[in-house]
Amino acid sequence: MGNEQIQELLGKISGRRLVNTLIGLIIRRFKKDLKIKKMKYLTFKNGDQLPMIGLGTWKSKPGEVYDAVLWALSAGYRHIDCAAIYDNEKEVGKAFEKAFSDGLVKREEIFVTSKLWNNSHRFEDVIPALKNSLLELRLNYLDLYLIHWPIAFKNGVGFAQTREEFFTYKDVPLSQTWAGMEEAHNQGLTKHIGMSNFNISKLEEVFESAEIKPEMNQIELHPFLPQKKLVEFCKSNGMLVTAYSPLGSGDRAARIKKENEPSLLENDMVRAIADKHNCTVGQVLIAFSIHRDIAVIPKSTNEGRIKENLASIQVDLDADDMKALLNIGTDFRYIDGSFFTGTKSPYTLSDLWEK
Ligand SMILES: NC(=O)c1ccc[n+]([C@@H]2O[C@H](COP(=O)([O-])OP(=O)(O)OC[C@H]3O[C@@H](n4cnc5c(N)ncnc54)[C@H](OP(=O)(O)O)[C@@H]3O)[C@@H](O)[C@H]2O)c1
Repeated sequence: MGNEQIQELLGKISGRRLVNTLIGLIIRRFKKDLKIKKMKYLTFKNGDQLPMIGLGTWKSKPGEVYDAVLWALSAGYRHIDCAAIYDNEKEVGKAFEKAFSDGLVKREEIFVTSKLWNNSHRFEDVIPALKNSLLELRLNYLDLYLIHWPIAFKNGVGFAQTREEFFTYKDVPLSQTWAGMEEAHNQGLTKHIGMSNFNISKLEEVFESAEIKPEMNQIELHPFLPQKKLVEFCKSNGMLVTAYSPLGSGDRAARIKKENEPSLLENDMVRAIADKHNCTVGQVLIAFSIHRDIAVIPKSTNEGRIKENLASIQVDLDADDMKALLNIGTDFRYIDGSFFTGTKSPYTLSDLWEK
């Protein structure tokens, strides 16, 4: 638009309307800042900040995850959790590109996590896998890259079905995979590195040879699985923790669900706490992690629930609520990893979880 056209347009807007428009713009900008300021953060050793609520993207379908990411960024989310195996990084990348080109956010204002899949655990496979995620996400660097599981498949295998398709710890020790993660960090491809689904003994194993200490463990965590010991171990070793499946991961495929799973969203005690705070059950479950200084990444592709989940930051649980939630009495793991074990696998559940 040229100067003359602008002047003609301004001429059509009366002085008062112009002032109102400008005030509206300032208020909108201020509100945007306020939304972001309400967020709470965890701080990495180098001072980088992790927004405590992020958007999960596992099971977010093609055709849905693009809108979900844009809704989330518009609502004020600045942390998006991705992974190569979610098979939707390309669409997430399109949403990032749109958000950047529309000026909704700048790259440096968002925190993006991705994860190394089990088929790229050899040293030489780590960087190509990370670079592929970067290509799909249309980014130059990640904020955080995680070893997704302490389980290794041969390169090119999507999901190992036979004994031959697995690598054992003897074939590819975790220290080798960690060395690949360190190399990715040293090359500036990711700002931080860590892992997911690692128990205390696996973490200790990595710590022994690590030149760069792991900074994050992303684990299933909610009132049915509070992970007190593992959280304590991570924090005392300088690691941050992120809670996945905070709402019970109800949209998992039936084949990876157990019969009669207990429901977090229908739990009477959680409902009572939600009623007390005049908020939703989902918000109590998300606030549960925040009150323990743990980041949390609820997944949603529904615009209303995306906003609702972000607003959990304002739910102020008290000591009685936290005591009740931490001692809820139901002990249950939704993502139990049994899909990696069995007669055709060299791995057992004891490779994953502490007894
Ligand atoms: N590192 C790992 O191994 C690992 C494993 C699992 C998950 N994760 C990460 O953690 C994220 C979250 O875990 P998750 O996807 O397993 O499950 P989740 O976040 O516990 O639950 C997602 C389900 O809850 C629904 N939902 C969302 N907000 C809700 C609300 N306020 N009230 C009621 N229902 C609500 C969603 O439906 P709608 O979409 O229709 O709202 C969806 O069905 C994943 O997406 C992924 O990014 C990582």
